[in-house]
Amino acid sequence: MEQAPSVEALFKPFSIGSLTLSNRIVMAPMTRMFSPEGVPGENVEAYYRRRAENGVGLIITEGTVINHPAAASHPNIPRFYGEEALDGWSRIVQSVHKAGGKIIPQLWHVGTQRAVGQAPNPEALPIGPSGITADGLKVNEPMTKKEIDMVVDAFAQGAADAQRLGFDGIELHGAHGYLIDQFFWEQTNRRQDEYGGGIAERTRFAVEIVKACRDAVGPDFPIIFRFSQWKSRPYTAKLAYTPDELAQFLSPLVDAGVDVFHCSTRRFWEPEFEGSSLNLAGWTKKITGKPVITVGSVGLDSEFLSFFAEGKGAQNVNIDGLIERLELDEFDLVAVGRALLVDPEWAVKIREGRVDELIPFTKEASRVLF
Ligand SMILES: Cc1cc2nc3c(=O)[nH]c(=O)nc-3n(C[C@H](O)[C@H](O)[C@H](O)COP(=O)(O)O)c2cc1C
Repeated sequence: MEQAPSVEALFKPFSIGSLTLSNRIVMAPMTRMFSPEGVPGENVEAYYRRRAENGVGLIITEGTVINHPAAASHPNIPRFYGEEALDGWSRIVQSVHKAGGKIIPQLWHVGTQRAVGQAPNPEALPIGPSGITADGLKVNEPMTKKEIDMVVDAFAQGAADAQRLGFDGIELHGAHGYLIDQFFWEQTNRRQDEYGGGIAERTRFAVEIVKACRDAVGPDFPIIFRFSQWKSRPYTAKLAYTPDELAQFLSPLVDAGVDVFHCSTRRFWEPEFEGSSLNLAGWTKKITGKPVITVGSVGLDSEFLSFFAEGKGAQNVNIDGLIERLELDEFDLVAVGRALLVDPEWAVKIREGRVDELIPFTKEASRVLF
């Protein structure tokens, strides 16, 4: 029988500036909606602590919304502003650190992926670069320069608060068709001013956010930037059709001060462009020279959008292909979503080869904080 590759590569430390992670396993950001009125409580604290106790190198929290009235699309999405919510986050940081883990919040604004009249602030209209949804439906006027500045400031305030509370960095949610991504994508950004235009110009809003966050936290606090080609609707959307376009997109973000790119894909093994086996993270690393996180169906036999579309679960599969790519340095860190949502001990079981004890992901699991 062929020898399975050792998982050693996954358990080597990795440093992002002055932040050292004990291994390459990152908990992917996953919205759980267990924070009534936006306040994360003891159940959420225990949920993250269990991952820290069980060997996850870096926890990226679920998307947590910045201080803007239209940032959230549900009252149980945790806020990253207001004393009560920040106290909740402070307890989570302390608890994760006590268990030996590292944790960063994913700062989020949903943009026009929020219905008109939706809680928690039904009176606040959705906002977007051109005031339209992914389907081209007009829900508001295009954001004014004043609104843009307010949102940039709110992200920077979130970054400053993350640092003050003792988090180990921040992740900016620039993926999946939410506000920052709406500026990136030509279908939702039809602006004629300096925030619109070609792919490089459409990064301006994100660049301003990254710079404002960098100014707020200083040079050593890690800023991770998550982006995706795909949108929640439609999945087939793309920002960059060629490596050259990807380079045009990434270069302003690197200059603005991003430390790590988190490249969101459904299946980590899928080549991003023809003629090379590199995935999106692999190309991003090759182009920028920056550390990158890969993600998508690690350890599972089906991808996560089938869960959202059809409530499909997933069986555990081996991670040999992942290890081979990690050993080749295609990427530096590996984000794990559903496998860690259902099984807080996933990292320990992988390290100890207890693969027959891994818990399969089910639709029901999404309703419980294991
Ligand atoms: C329940 C659930 C909630 C998610 N919420 C977020 C989120 O808040 N922010 C984000 O960037 N991605 C979110 N994602 C995407 C995951 O971070 C990850 O990219 C995706 O699940 C693929 O990884 P997996 O195949 O290991 O599950 C979510 C995924 C799931 C399953």
